[in-house]
Amino acid sequence: MVLELADGSLPVVRHWGTDLGELSTDDLSALTTAGRVAFFDSPFDVADAVPVLPEHARAWIGRPGVEGSRAGRHWSPVFRTTGPALASTTPDGTQRVVVRAADVAAYLEIELEIELHPGGLLRLRSTLTSTGGEDYVVGAVRHTLPVPEQADELLDFTGRHTYERIPQRQPFPAGVHSREVRTGRTGLDAVHLLCAGEPGFEARHGQVWAVHLGWSGNQQTYAERLHNGARLLGSGEALEHGEVRLSPGQSCTTPWMYAAHGTGLDEVTARFHAWLRSRPHAPTRPRPVTLNTWEAVYFGQSLERLTELADLGAEVGAERFVLDDGWFDGRRDDTTSLGDWTVSPDVWPDGLGPLIDHVHGLGMEFGLWVEPEMVSQDSDLARAHPEWLFAAGGRRGLDSRQQQVLDLGHPDAYAHVRDQLLDLLRTHEIAYLKWDHNRYLNDAGHAPGGEAGVRAHTLAAYRLMDELVAAQPGLEIESCAGGGGRVDLGVMERCVRVWASDCIDPLERQQIQRWTMALLPPGWVGTHVGSPRAHTTGRRHDLSFRAGTAIWGHLGIEWDLTSASPEEREELASWVAFHKAHRALLHEGVVVNGDHHDEAVRVHGVVSPDRDRALYSVAAVARPHTTGPGRVRLPGLDPARRYRVGVPSPGATPVLEGRGVVPWTREGLVLPGVVLTEVGLPMLPLLPEHSHLISAEETR
Ligand code: GLA
Repeated sequence: MVLELADGSLPVVRHWGTDLGELSTDDLSALTTAGRVAFFDSPFDVADAVPVLPEHARAWIGRPGVEGSRAGRHWSPVFRTTGPALASTTPDGTQRVVVRAADVAAYLEIELEIELHPGGLLRLRSTLTSTGGEDYVVGAVRHTLPVPEQADELLDFTGRHTYERIPQRQPFPAGVHSREVRTGRTGLDAVHLLCAGEPGFEARHGQVWAVHLGWSGNQQTYAERLHNGARLLGSGEALEHGEVRLSPGQSCTTPWMYAAHGTGLDEVTARFHAWLRSRPHAPTRPRPVTLNTWEAVYFGQSLERLTELADLGAEVGAERFVLDDGWFDGRRDDTTSLGDWTVSPDVWPDGLGPLIDHVHGLGMEFGLWVEPEMVSQDSDLARAHPEWLFAAGGRRGLDSRQQQVLDLGHPDAYAHVRDQLLDLLRTHEIAYLKWDHNRYLNDAGHAPGGEAGVRAHTLAAYRLMDELVAAQPGLEIESCAGGGGRVDLGVMERCVRVWASDCIDPLERQQIQRWTMALLPPGWVGTHVGSPRAHTTGRRHDLSFRAGTAIWGHLGIEWDLTSASPEEREELASWVAFHKAHRALLHEGVVVNGDHHDEAVRVHGVVSPDRDRALYSVAAVARPHTTGPGRVRLPGLDPARRYRVGVPSPGATPVLEGRGVVPWTREGLVLPGVVLTEVGLPMLPLLPEHSHLISAEETR
């Protein structure tokens, strides 16, 4: 990135993209001058690039960076810097620039922070301060980054419950393509990443520029193209009217906007992964194989049933046991009791102690499902404190899954739920919380006045997670929201895992995991082996495909193992053992995706950081369109090194079409990296909805 910090204005990005190497001061100033193109069809007498917070007063005619007013005045601020930009490098090598600026006439100050992580991830945020006059009502503070004209194709994501991260592509349109969230959570239909790239860009080719907002509340992420050729990617929080009102001396800080450039999407992904892996709370111990009780027993909890499940879980190699929904108060189905976070005396007459002891006795950690931001109308909490539930305009919002939202912006509501959770953590040895969030925060007003409350709630939810982790160091939190509805870098500042989807059908998971891991490293994404018949789709799959899909993330089991045959459990145990043997590579490796010519074939893998080992998955997600199976190219290997490739089969041998046995799958084969990456291996004739592995190990 080349950032111009000059003539008193906010920073202007003169280049964001391929590394230009070391440039002299003269080169940099020439580059800046060359960037000042003439607007030959411009209504203005000046021509200039757009600052990262675009200003109308500087010839920008699209969406402004700062919106707001003081009873109608000061709505078009123009910021002049108040001192030199402060540039520094932090101990981890992050380059940081802080710019302070003010619009004295509008009584506004802004502090803009821009950071470039050594892995190439960029992030920006601002703090806006009102310095005088009447209250300043903030409408928006949005950051933007310019992309060049060749970025002519957009990719972003949508989705729904059990079907997250559906990619959508389109040409970069004129005007604004804006993805907006007004549901108070990142969303099952989250934009996830907004990418602009060279037409046809894929995992391994085509330049791509991508942005992501690290925020779990209302937000907008957009691509904007003007008739003069300007193209931007931008994002910011979406504030409701009056949600942020700054009295003199008060400030508000935006969420971070993250951005990455790469040649091919895999390079963009690598920058996000490097960033997350470098965070102070990034897990340093192996991710424990998790047994989750939800699809095994649903609300049918009992000590006997769950100890039996725990025994079988431990037998196949699980290391963590997570008791899902249904353990508290009157919660025998999903109509009641959210908010009453005390152990049910009916289901657990002796408390959770006996189950936890049993789980620990088997050498597993214990984890618990909670949904602290939610409240059932039929709960002691809602009856005692109806004023703590969100209610805009004096009316309560619509129920969703028979539930309402506890407004954590109420200090007493916050303290109540915090104390209940702290009490649980104090009285039980709980290593892990699966933190769910099933209702939208739309129409969310703070009672009694009904003021918009999503922002305060989102910040309070973050604070609550932070307080719990501080009170119990080592506690791990998983972010779940009806599956993958809260997957963003804001919540990932305090969580170490996401539940990617309530759908664990491996066919759907091929796509859901591929795109969830475009942002999050594999070790941060929950991937479970479900029952032979997927509960959400009714499809049936062999264990080789279910496990062969689940081993690629933070592995778990969500299957009633008491209904599995001894042979199935034995095969599952082999997959778990294989995952454990390779989990350092699976979780810490560089994620690579093959650009296979046939949409029916998915190739992806991980390559060790020093490129001496790699593991790939080849999956037939439909019947290959082409006659003859074609070749599978293995991305990411060092072209100059030689690798021995093989087809490891932790469970049964892969199910292939026809009778052909390919000799090298038995004996292995040694080939140079360049051959494996550029020419590839002949593809094995896979049956649809099956997959197999390929390993590659450097040999000298
Ligand atoms: C949500 C979660 C599921 C499960 C249920 C429990 O839907 O995504 O994994 O925990 O709630 O009610």
